[in-house]
Amino acid sequence: MPKPLNVALIGSKFMGRVHSNAYLKVCKYFDLPFDVKMHTIAARDGKALRPFAAQWGWQNWTDNWRDILCNDDIGLVDVSTPNHVHAEQAIAVLEAGKHVACEKPLAGTLDDARAMRAAARKARGRKTFVWYNYRRVPAVALAHQLVKAGKIGRIYHVRAVYLQDWGGPGTPLLWRFQRKLAGSGAHGDLNAHLIDMARFITGDEFSEVVGAVEQTFIKERELIEDAGGEISGKGANRGRKRKGKSTVDDAVLFLARLKQGAVASFEATRLATGNKNANRMEIHGEKGALRFDFERMNELGFYDATLPGKVQGWSNINVTRGNDGHPYVDHWWPDAHGLGYEHGFINQAADICLALAGRKPLVCLPDFADAYETQRVLHAAIQSARNHCPVKMSQVK
Ligand SMILES: NC(=O)c1ccc[n+]([C@@H]2O[C@H](COP(=O)([O-])OP(=O)(O)OC[C@H]3O[C@@H](n4cnc5c(N)ncnc54)[C@H](O)[C@@H]3O)[C@@H](O)[C@H]2O)c1
Repeated sequence: MPKPLNVALIGSKFMGRVHSNAYLKVCKYFDLPFDVKMHTIAARDGKALRPFAAQWGWQNWTDNWRDILCNDDIGLVDVSTPNHVHAEQAIAVLEAGKHVACEKPLAGTLDDARAMRAAARKARGRKTFVWYNYRRVPAVALAHQLVKAGKIGRIYHVRAVYLQDWGGPGTPLLWRFQRKLAGSGAHGDLNAHLIDMARFITGDEFSEVVGAVEQTFIKERELIEDAGGEISGKGANRGRKRKGKSTVDDAVLFLARLKQGAVASFEATRLATGNKNANRMEIHGEKGALRFDFERMNELGFYDATLPGKVQGWSNINVTRGNDGHPYVDHWWPDAHGLGYEHGFINQAADICLALAGRKPLVCLPDFADAYETQRVLHAAIQSARNHCPVKMSQVK
C-alpha cells in the first residue's frame, strides 16, 4: 500500500487551480510510492477558499498560510504565490521541516533566491523543487534526450522566443506589473522558462550575457482593488479610473554565450501583438537541429543532417507514442491522442513523488540550487541591459 503524502498548497488562482488539478489527478495516471492527499489549501482570499476547497477536494482551507507550518501531518508544501513571497514562505516551510515545491521564477530578486538556496542547503533531508513545467512537456523532454544521445552533435545556436500579447494598455496594474512584487515583467515570467529550457535541453550552462535590452512601453496602468499580490489602489474612487506606475519591463531581449561555445538569443514580451503563448525554441548543431513551439506542443521538429543530402529535411515528430518511448506518454492515452498544458504539471507532480521516495524522476527535476542558476542568468541580463555592457556569469554570485 502506498504511504499517504499530505500536501498543502499556498495560492488558489491561476497556478492554484493548475496545481490542484495536478494533485487531484496524479495518482490516477501514475503508479506512485505515495497516495497524494490534498490536505490544506491556503491563500489570502478567505471568502473564496471554502468553495475552492470543495470544488477541488482540499480537506481543509485557511487564509493564514502559517497554519500549515505547525501541522505535523503535512509533508509537502507547494508555494504558488506571487514572486515576492516565495522566499518568506519557502524558507519558513523548510525551517518547519517540510519539503517544498515552489513556482518559478525561484524569486523576484537574486538576493531572495540566494537566501532560498541557502535555506535548502541547510535543511538536510528536506527536498526542494521548482515548477519549471515545460521540461515535462513530452516534446521538450524528447529534445533533451536527443541532444543527450548526440543526435545534434556540437551545438552552434540556441534561438528562443516567448511571445504573448495580453500586456497592452487595457490590462490593469496586476502584481505582475509591480517590481516590488514580481521582480521583473516579461523577463522573470517568460525568459525564466526559456533559460531553464535552454539549460535543460542543451545540458550546458551560460558563460556570458553579451548584451540586452529592456523596455517598458506602457508606463501607467489602471489601479484595481485587488491586484493579486497586495491591495493596490486602496481608496480609489469608484467609477473614476486612477492610474499607477508600471515598474517592470514589457519586453527583454538578450544575447548570450554558453560554456561549450554555442551562441544564444532570447526574447520575451507580453506585447507581441498576434501571439498568444508562443514559447518557441530552435537548436542548431553540427549533426542536426530541433525546433519546438508550445502552440503545437505535441510536435517536435527534427532535422537530421547526417542523412544523404537528397533526403534531408525537417521531420515533424508527433510526440504522442508511449510505446515508442516518448517520455511520459505511456501514462496517458493510446498513441496519437495529444496532451495539453495541464499534463506537464501532472507529470511534474508524479516526478516529485518519485523523488520524495528516493526514486529517479522520469526527467530531472530542478531544485532550488538549479533554479538559482536560471535566476543568475535573469539577473545578468538585467545588469547588461541597465549598464549597457556584457556580463560574465562568473561575476554574478
Ligand atoms: N509555471 C508556469 O507556467 C507559471 C504560470 C503562471 C504563473 N506562474 C508563477 O506562479 C506564481 C503565482 O502566479 P499566479 O499566476 O497563480 O498568480 P495569481 O495572482 O493568479 O494567484 C496568486 C495567489 O496567491 C495568493 N497570495 C498572494 N499573496 C499571498 C500571501 N502573502 N500569502 C498567501 N497567499 C497569497 C492569492 O490569494 C492568490 O490565490 C508566480 O510565481 C508566477 O510566476 C508560473
